[in-house]
Amino acid sequence: MIVSLRELLTDADRRGYAIGAFNCLSQENVMGAIRAAEDLRSPLILQLAEVQFPEAPLAMMAPLFLGAAERAKVPVCVHLDHGLSLETCIKAIRLGFTSVMLDASALPYEENLKATMEISRIAKAAGVDVEAELGHVGDCGVDTADVFTEVEQAVDFVSQTGIDALAVAIGNLHGHYIATPQLNIKRLNEIHEAVSLPLVLHGGSGTSVEDFKACLKGGICKINVATAIQLEATKQIQHYLATAEKPAYIPMKRVIEKASYEVICQHMELFESNNKA
Ligand code: 13P
Repeated sequence: MIVSLRELLTDADRRGYAIGAFNCLSQENVMGAIRAAEDLRSPLILQLAEVQFPEAPLAMMAPLFLGAAERAKVPVCVHLDHGLSLETCIKAIRLGFTSVMLDASALPYEENLKATMEISRIAKAAGVDVEAELGHVGDCGVDTADVFTEVEQAVDFVSQTGIDALAVAIGNLHGHYIATPQLNIKRLNEIHEAVSLPLVLHGGSGTSVEDFKACLKGGICKINVATAIQLEATKQIQHYLATAEKPAYIPMKRVIEKASYEVICQHMELFESNNKA
């Protein structure tokens, strides 16, 4: 069944677990995610980021996500990840997404604040929840400067924008980490103490078990995972092609679904969202 982001995160916040938000670029990814959520009785967030639109166009993915969510036996939220403009967020809202993230985190504070206030006003009027980012979570190998979330700014940002979830920058990066990151858990705890809303960790792939557990205690209620799914699918496709007697397309689709399923199950268990639906 389809549910709102706020509803999912409120329960996660109350019970101290996090919900995996998995970036799905294909039907195989979505099918693996739904099967994982149903088998583990876990709530689920299906998401797609604007930078992924060239491979997975929003208008094509929306019916797939929504159809899968409606039929699921567990609560599923359909979320726009890293919308880069107001226009994209509005398109997602019109297509039926239950929540949107407008990512204006690369802009100066005042501009991020202004853009987030605007999407918040529009989304609320449409009954859609909003995630925003403060500080900036960069990409592995591209962004070297750590732009951490400032505690005082977070308090101001949350109270002025009325958002439902705040993505924090605490040493996390998107993509494939060369070395396991060391998250700044002290900063996370300070933010958690200062603002009373569910926090989001981006760049979940490759994070240590220890940091994940500290994140659950520090108010992180949504954890985004993308790279780990695609890496595992690639690994399993390579193995299949190297070992199958007569490699064929349909079994390969099943390999992708199975790889997605396995990675998602693993993360759901780590995030302790199993048996919470
Ligand atoms: P990873 O690809 O590092 O898991 O990050 C996913 C993410 O944060 C999507 O917003």
